Amino acid sequence: MKKIAVLTSGGDSPGMNAAVRAVVRKGLYLGLEVFGVYRGYTGLMEGEIKKFDLGSVGDIIHRGGTMLHSSRSEEFKTEEGQRKAIDQLMSHGIEGVVVIGGDGSYRGAQKLAEYGIATVGIPGTIDNDIPGTDYTIGFDTALNTIVDAIDKIRDTAMSHEKTSVIEVMGRDAGDLALWSGLAGGAESIMIPEVSIDIGGIVDKIQKGIERGKKHSIIIVAEGSTSGVEVVKQIKNRMNLEPRVTILGHLQRGGKPTGFDRVLASRLGAYAVDLLTDNQVGVAVGIEQNKLVHYPFDKILGKPHQINTNMFELASQLSI
Ligand code: F6P
Repeated sequence: MKKIAVLTSGGDSPGMNAAVRAVVRKGLYLGLEVFGVYRGYTGLMEGEIKKFDLGSVGDIIHRGGTMLHSSRSEEFKTEEGQRKAIDQLMSHGIEGVVVIGGDGSYRGAQKLAEYGIATVGIPGTIDNDIPGTDYTIGFDTALNTIVDAIDKIRDTAMSHEKTSVIEVMGRDAGDLALWSGLAGGAESIMIPEVSIDIGGIVDKIQKGIERGKKHSIIIVAEGSTSGVEVVKQIKNRMNLEPRVTILGHLQRGGKPTGFDRVLASRLGAYAVDLLTDNQVGVAVGIEQNKLVHYPFDKILGKPHQINTNMFELASQLSI
């Protein structure tokens, strides 16, 4: 293999730049020609492809977002769109593509593989919802952003003796809510993987009030219900005026933590090693600090799981 490309797709995540840098630099180190594809699969279909050198990825390791830009493409899901992308790759002589993104991006990579393109996926999403890896790139940074927000909201919740409901991202997964709730000392955590009765949450607030506690923090994963709905339900049941904060896209931005930069660098270089070794149609990951890879089929069929012990611990510590 002589020419490879790298693209970022789906929701951006902090550390994607570090992964792009690692793919480009490792590829050049191995003597390959490396191309950057702008705007994900949309840019691939439109031929927004540029040959990169060492300097192309200079000064990006510490930056949030993705210098390649990203997109979610409906057109690429069609055969016509896929053929456009393949034509572009062929016209540049590109044989291998590294795709950095979440499960939707992996499905795209799987499609490219069906047309004979060698592909390797790198898990880049704040949601931490990709099987076959303990962590996705961006999760740690988003977690720290949320914890910082919880700490700030706690200051004002404490001062005004309020219950604060904070809605966090994660799509259908509860990892961001669970980890940030545990780290932020939340009284209750609502995640899609565990069904929780709002009555139980209200009881907990009530018990807290009875023993002199005047403020509480409730973390709601967007995949379970909405923060606004939780506030409504609490108001229906108790004489309280809870406040809601929806953290939204704030959680996707910001400079990547050291953990995410190291993870991205290791996974990016490993993806190139696999491509050159012709171990393709796979996604890379990290399990117990070891680099691993699994075929897309295995990963895409597998449901995401949360750490139930951690959920139990969070409940035990917030009685
Ligand atoms: O997958 C990353 C993510 O930020 C999810 O947590 C969230 O549900 C979704 O993307 C939001 O997507 P958009 O930015 O397109 O609204």
